[in-house]
Amino acid sequence: MWKGKNVTVFVTGGIAAFKAATLVRLFVKAGANVEVAMTKSACEFITPLTFQVLTKNKVHIDTFDEDEANKVQHIHLADQTDVAIVVPATANTIAKMANGIADNFVTSTLLATTAPIYVVPAMNEHMWENPATVRNVKQLVEDGKSVIEPATGFLAEGYDGKGRLPEPEEIFEQVTFFESRREYKSPLEGKTILITAGGTKERIDPVRYISNDSSGKMGYALAKAASILGAKVQLVSTTKQLKVPYGVQVTYVESALEMHDAVTQLFPKTDIAVMVAAVSDYYVAKRSNQKIKKQQNESGLMLELLENPDILKKLGHSKREGQVVIGFAAETTNVLEYAKAKLEKKKADVIIANDVSNSRIGFNSDHHQVTLLTKDGHIVNLPEKSKEELALNIWESLLEEKIIH
Ligand code: PMT
Repeated sequence: MWKGKNVTVFVTGGIAAFKAATLVRLFVKAGANVEVAMTKSACEFITPLTFQVLTKNKVHIDTFDEDEANKVQHIHLADQTDVAIVVPATANTIAKMANGIADNFVTSTLLATTAPIYVVPAMNEHMWENPATVRNVKQLVEDGKSVIEPATGFLAEGYDGKGRLPEPEEIFEQVTFFESRREYKSPLEGKTILITAGGTKERIDPVRYISNDSSGKMGYALAKAASILGAKVQLVSTTKQLKVPYGVQVTYVESALEMHDAVTQLFPKTDIAVMVAAVSDYYVAKRSNQKIKKQQNESGLMLELLENPDILKKLGHSKREGQVVIGFAAETTNVLEYAKAKLEKKKADVIIANDVSNSRIGFNSDHHQVTLLTKDGHIVNLPEKSKEELALNIWESLLEEKIIH
């Protein structure tokens, strides 16, 4: 998303200014052309040379440093900026921005740009809570600027409080999320989407379980894409290993029965349910509370397995008018034939079939290839891609096929 975009980072004078260097690096790594403008106070905390080396661009500080006769530097930068980020934003710069004051290179460029502006404040807690700052921040929001709230934690003053600059990775994630939303124009806005992810674990004893190779990556990718496309997303996940995408709510479960309970509770408030999780068909009838000892006989250990509820089938058979239920089918042979049988048996609106005999895609891989089978008999083949890219294609296909209105 950042390749070829012009990102301008405005650094103002606070102790957190050093963190702006990491943020700049993240944008450069993502393919953006990054320009940096600094206030004179910011230069007391970090040198312009750091940013020049990171961006390979000259850093802008002085409004009257007009070394190119055919350009007015701050207007030129304002016009070429696609996204502006003020980081850290001091109470002083926030006050100037809220009142349209343009008395240095940073504030003049910010007043002149029509690009989206993200403001990331960092300051002492009492300065953040001061009625003047509260008023100014409110004004910025009313003026259409996006304010990324400061974090709570250990402040430079030696005590805990609100006012810390969020970590650069978090700022990068939030800005990327909101810019992606802007780019995709939120076609899923107003929809509540429930997605399951990961392989369930059926406990045998406190240290052993029956599970499968599902990593949860496909479910998380669909959740991230749905959130970018404007939906409110609730993820029911068996894994805690993956980063929860920005804006997504998560409920952690372990077994199929726990997943069944969580999904059943959330389903009535859901518009679209997508069952990506690899759910165990059976659970161990008698779970031992103690670690099972090696058996001293030759017949080995017998485990009695009982059938788990079929969650997808239950949703398909109980959905109300307007609710959409989508399942996956993980097959190793006769992929489309078995997927079609699942579509009918489980009364799903769509089954997304994948051939899990191919180790390059499917379980625990970063890539995937799927075929959508709709209840109207349409078949949509989506070619192999990264799970993140494919997830966007899946939502786009569901919209094109009018499965989602
Ligand atoms: O997690 P990853 O590593 O990224 O891998 C992705 C994936 C391979 C797990 C995914 O693409 C996939 O195929 N998910 C479905 C796995 C599966 O259990 O398929 P199934 O054919 O056994 O089940 C069919 C459908 O019924 C699935 O939507 C499943 O969630 C659902 N089901 C199954 C059993 C059960 N008791 N209840 C269910 O709801």
